[in-house]
Amino acid sequence: MTDTLETSPLLATRPPGPLARSVISIDDLPDRDLAGIVARGVEFAAGARSTALAGTVTGVYFAKPSTRTRTAFSAGALRLGAGLVAYGPGDLQLSTGETDADTGRVLAGMLDTLVMRTAEDEAVMRSYAEPGGMSVINAMSAQEHPTQALCDLSTLQEHFGRLAGLRVLYVGEGNNTASALALALMRCPGVTLDLRTPAGYGLSADFLRRARRHAARSGGHIDQQHDMRGLPADLDVIYTTRWQTTGSSKHTADWRHTFAPFRVGSSLLAAYPRAVFLHDLPAHRGEEVDAAVLDGPASLAFRQAHMKMYSAMAVLEWCAAGAPGSS
Ligand code: CP
Repeated sequence: MTDTLETSPLLATRPPGPLARSVISIDDLPDRDLAGIVARGVEFAAGARSTALAGTVTGVYFAKPSTRTRTAFSAGALRLGAGLVAYGPGDLQLSTGETDADTGRVLAGMLDTLVMRTAEDEAVMRSYAEPGGMSVINAMSAQEHPTQALCDLSTLQEHFGRLAGLRVLYVGEGNNTASALALALMRCPGVTLDLRTPAGYGLSADFLRRARRHAARSGGHIDQQHDMRGLPADLDVIYTTRWQTTGSSKHTADWRHTFAPFRVGSSLLAAYPRAVFLHDLPAHRGEEVDAAVLDGPASLAFRQAHMKMYSAMAVLEWCAAGAPGSS
């Protein structure tokens, strides 16, 4: 077992109860709350402090590898004053056949918040929130990576001082990172998102439909094409992600051939001298991105990685503010 318990002097016991605030999809957040979490992430990055989680316990369950998200939520919860219980793959009795429903029911009686990354779909994560009383935070599911998108928006807000009107090019697989990013960006006024995804590896019709619904309200625009022809005349942001998404596999044998035109190289970046480069990491230099781009002056990728902790703190604080009994 790798469980660790950091004791806090004021840990309160709390029976399961009414539904607590959870972030399982970007669409769980009202517009105002999404904007508030993004802004709060920037405030934490600028040095704001909070003890919003004092006397509470956060569980961190990662069934899949993680460097950034697991550390961000663990360090973030500790910095906010929470006690921490960490579970790696195989630690919970899930690995010996206990059901998700029973596991969630037990954990909800002991934890205030559960941060989880699994290969399961979103419905399984929602089942952990069903007993009530415990917030559930999606630290990446097969469909969506909502806390990555919140971090990405805080990174852009910090850099540009605004999100409204940004012109974003996303290059690469329409994976869980892209899905959450599309939902989040299309909630911001006047943002343009141009997705260039390999054929057969695009954003799903469901996420495109949901993002377009947000765009219709916010004045944004989202478009997806499966080639790199006719790129926009000007851009503020170029974003890519690793071709081999954690926990997923490709359904075609020649996928590398299909993905090859979607590498972010120096020539693409040179066409947009004012654009910044984002990457959610981990990266494979020479595959989805050239080293000169990732490590070059336009890259915010490592600032973006550091912002994950500040953004995680904002998410944890938002969940705690909605906890039953909080004022
Ligand atoms: N970007 C991201 O989610 O990184 P980790 O897999 O290291 O958490």
